[in-house]
Amino acid sequence: MQEFRELADKLNRENDLTREEFLSMISMRGDLAKEDRDYLYGLAREKADSVYGKDIYLRGLIEFTNFCRNNCLYCGLRRDNRNVNRYRLTKEQILECADRGYDLNFRTIVLQGGEDLHYSDAEICEIVSGIKELHPDCAVTLSIGEKSRKSYEEYFRAGADRYLLRHETANEEHYGRLHPSELSMKNRMQCLYDLKEIGYQVGAGFMVGSPYQTEDCYADDFAFLHELQPEMIGIGPFIPHHETPFKDEKKGTLEDTLFFLAVLRLSFPDALLPATTALGTIHPLGREMGIQAGANVIMPNLSPVSVRKDYLLYDGKICTGDEAAECRHCMELRMEKIGYHVVTARGDHARFVEGRLH
Ligand code: 5AD
Ligand code: SF4
Ligand code: FES
Repeated sequence: MQEFRELADKLNRENDLTREEFLSMISMRGDLAKEDRDYLYGLAREKADSVYGKDIYLRGLIEFTNFCRNNCLYCGLRRDNRNVNRYRLTKEQILECADRGYDLNFRTIVLQGGEDLHYSDAEICEIVSGIKELHPDCAVTLSIGEKSRKSYEEYFRAGADRYLLRHETANEEHYGRLHPSELSMKNRMQCLYDLKEIGYQVGAGFMVGSPYQTEDCYADDFAFLHELQPEMIGIGPFIPHHETPFKDEKKGTLEDTLFFLAVLRLSFPDALLPATTALGTIHPLGREMGIQAGANVIMPNLSPVSVRKDYLLYDGKICTGDEAAECRHCMELRMEKIGYHVVTARGDHARFVEGRLH
């Protein structure tokens, strides 16, 4: 399709489109010929290679608590789900996981959890500084939800380098249909701006194919991302969880997820873009295809195997029975097979050196 390729070329050249052009481009995604799809992925992959070469950065994910005070309609860990075996890891267990990760050559440790008020700010700071003291060459990423600016400042002072907080959707009406009224899009966005201002490398993102999502929602997401300029952008398909109000909704597709990954790469050439576990869940080669469509980060799991099956945001999650070392080696082989190399590096954003803005 001539018009599609022209829009893809323009996005590749200018990293942006008008809202009308963007809407027109994404409205074509459902009936593209394979060659047009491959054309888009090819542009995105070239762009990623021009910034990051064939290097793939690893993040070791420690899911340290599955308690959550929130009730997001899409998420299997929502507080109303009584059929979750809730767990918390102790500081000692978390540091042990981080050590194991270090030995497996991870140089970024991601601490992810539900919004669990059991851990005080002081405890979070101790865990962060504990990891940094033992492994000063590691980046520490937090992914623990909405907190006050003061809390974010304390974690940063304790040594946290990065923060992941997906905005989920930049369309207010859509936000309201995915979340109970006690959560607000305004507050979520304020958190992201605070995190940026404090000096974190910030990750935003959204689900692909979530219930009630329209093309306008995607246009709002891209406009918001252009304004925020996050260092990382995490996207993955929505996958229903059987104990949530969205249990009968359709899942997001592989094609749409790859399409939006490629569009993100062309829009944000030096962003860190993970090929997510959710993408690997909807297709056995989803993560590989994500890399080939422009992603450059993989986030294998470092959580103890004993708790893995209890951190289910969605049904069918992969790697719930595998040891950290197995996932680490599995990803190395998978990347080599498609001509990429996982590297032992912190993998900071191009604007950051040793974790600090320069
Ligand atoms: N399907 C896909 N992704 C989900 N997330 C939460 N629930 C689901 C689901 N059912 C994503 C959200 C959240 C991130 C940690 O996981 O975007 O920010
Ligand atoms: Fe809690 Fe995060 Fe799940 Fe929402 S998406 S219910 S904040 S764990
Ligand atoms: Fe976990 Fe392949 S990445 S087993």
